[in-house]
Amino acid sequence: MRRKLIAGNWKMNCLKADGLALAKAVFDKTNGTLPFDVLICPPMSLLGQVAAMPHQIGVGAQDVAVAPKANGAFTGDVSAEMVKDLGASHTIVGHSERRAMHHETDEIVRTKAERAIGAGLIPVICVGETLAEREAGQAIAVVTKQIRGSVPASATAENCVIAYEPVWAIGTGKVPTTADVAEIHGAVRAELAKVLGSDIADQMRILYGGSVKPANAKELLSVSDVDGALIGGASLKIEDFWAIAETQF
Ligand code: 13P
Repeated sequence: MRRKLIAGNWKMNCLKADGLALAKAVFDKTNGTLPFDVLICPPMSLLGQVAAMPHQIGVGAQDVAVAPKANGAFTGDVSAEMVKDLGASHTIVGHSERRAMHHETDEIVRTKAERAIGAGLIPVICVGETLAEREAGQAIAVVTKQIRGSVPASATAENCVIAYEPVWAIGTGKVPTTADVAEIHGAVRAELAKVLGSDIADQMRILYGGSVKPANAKELLSVSDVDGALIGGASLKIEDFWAIAETQF
């Protein structure tokens, strides 16, 4: 039985006052027993302070360094070990914004996921096709290739999460049909079975991300093989983030 994971990716948002207030609001909502898991990923600037606040949910980074060492001459980078040392439990890797803007290849994403697992963090490995790729009928081919290239051999259902985020649905208000989501999530799980074996693939959580809102969350989260949501814009308002989570009670 896969427990749903409701995850917020704050991206490059929130100065200190707003970010700490938002974290506190999420922590207040989640201080009891819940029938699902919750994760928030604040910007690196606030990660240490947020992780130091009392909380019962996951707190993650949005990226970790690809560098081969935990310390060293890698100006501007923050290693997985450093993120873990701040008190984080997870990190996003391979978000499409990093793949596009920072030219991250599958090999870089896989290496980051390995570093995260090695440091005791759970990577949330993101995959997803562009609009041009979807319109060319290539969505499944693109996403399964990303899975083959980005998921390390050390991944298990306990130490790794996948997020399918169609690039064209991120921040646009557009969402794929539930049939399309089911098709891709099924293809992702089938590919994970080829790479990691069916026991691991059956238990690994595959999140959907891209314009998840209170109005569409219940439907998207009820699609087969959808094990949670990775939420961008709507994770920045506690009312919206919690309205999405509340669909899972
Ligand atoms: P939006 O929810 O703003 O579309 O962002 C999705 C996303 O990129 C989460 O990682």
